[in-house]
Amino acid sequence: MRHIHIIGIGTGNPEHLTVQAINAMNGADVVFIPTKGADKADLADIRRDICERYLNRKDVRIIEFEVPKRAGQNRSYMESVDDWHAAIARIYEGLIGGLPEAGSGAFLVWGDPSLYDSTIRIIERVRDAGTCAFAYSVVPGITSIQALAASHRIPVNLVGKPVEITTGRRLAQTGLTHETTVVMLDGEQAFSKIDDPDAEIFWGAYLGTKDEVIRSGRLGDIAGDIARLRAEERARHGWIMDIYLLRKGRDFED
Ligand SMILES: C[S@@+](CC[C@H](N)C(=O)[O-])C[C@H]1O[C@@H](n2cnc3c(N)ncnc32)[C@H](O)[C@@H]1O
Repeated sequence: MRHIHIIGIGTGNPEHLTVQAINAMNGADVVFIPTKGADKADLADIRRDICERYLNRKDVRIIEFEVPKRAGQNRSYMESVDDWHAAIARIYEGLIGGLPEAGSGAFLVWGDPSLYDSTIRIIERVRDAGTCAFAYSVVPGITSIQALAASHRIPVNLVGKPVEITTGRRLAQTGLTHETTVVMLDGEQAFSKIDDPDAEIFWGAYLGTKDEVIRSGRLGDIAGDIARLRAEERARHGWIMDIYLLRKGRDFED
């Protein structure tokens, strides 16, 4: 039976790859590299660099495929995500179906496949469709949350306290409801709409890459600076990936 490896590759630093990830890549017949157009060429380049560094079997083939864009018009967010996943599933089906009967393929997933990533969901969808039989396994990777915490040299949680992981869209709707909130996928700079000037923010963009930038401080003091810096960086690169942790309270404080 065919086998698919879903491999977490970390967040931009090729040294984030685990030994398990490198071994899984080298155990595959084909490595699939997603591309997302010219403006996100850097991300495909990072995956190509990883293949160049770590593939030590000359016969591993690399196949690039273009990821369709999500169409958001005239439907709810959930409907548009569902349609988008269906379109990607059709592409995966073709890629997996193109493997030899007992062959194996590897999808290189940004960060870790379990965190705000739908590769596992889409692979399950392809399996449910039943057009080609395959098994799959998942190799964990370093997440952007870990990269952020390491760069700021902070623990993620306060002692004995929970952590909320959310999106910019939801933070803008709910406000700050936990002592520690990690915010990802924030296209609207929701931190600048939070009315909690004494909260601390630990922000980072392009973490793990040569372009990494981080800032931290009291939200009321630096929200404006981060918003400006974010806009400048986004304009300079043509894209941005940023994440932040918002903190209220302290260790050993009830
Ligand atoms: C689709 S999610 C993928 C998350 C990924 N699976 C992980 O484990 O981190 C993309 C979001 O992750 C965060 N992210 C991923 N890589 C990042 C990086 N190198 N620097 C800053 N944020 C990053 C950003 O919030 C971005 O909007």
